[in-house]
Amino acid sequence: MLDGSLIVSRLAEQSREGADRDALLRTAVEQIESASDRFDWVGIYLLDGDFLTLHNFVGEATEHTQIAVGHGVCGTAVAENRDINVPDVRALDNYIACSIGTRSEIVVLIRGEDTGRIYGQLDLDSDATDAFTDDDERELRRVADWLGGLFSRE
Ligand code: SME
Repeated sequence: MLDGSLIVSRLAEQSREGADRDALLRTAVEQIESASDRFDWVGIYLLDGDFLTLHNFVGEATEHTQIAVGHGVCGTAVAENRDINVPDVRALDNYIACSIGTRSEIVVLIRGEDTGRIYGQLDLDSDATDAFTDDDERELRRVADWLGGLFSRE
């Protein structure tokens, strides 16, 4: 089960022990991925100007390490400043396929604490249709908000 608070407490502990941002972003991805068999690919993209760049991931390697804002599910989430839960990616026109087996995807934005500035996003793919629940989204938001605080404080 995905428990955002548990992941946040682990991240906070690791941060207190001196872990840098890259290590914390890696831990976040690993912890999320190991929380459920429904999560077949988990990654973090960071926003740099008009492009999202893949920071780290667990799952099949993808050639889509850079995605322009406005493109695909990932770029659309940034362009429209909203989280996106896609129950069936086959229904989308602007979907960018990372893996042929993917059926559903969720993107949760990492935003600054006060400014709301977008720093990046959590991106999860599943080979199952309609894999991501409202609970998943809520728990992912906890993790994304903590990571957003990390960026805000730097
Ligand atoms: N499917 C995403 C691209 C990233 S992969 O899922 C890793 C999209 O449409 O933006």
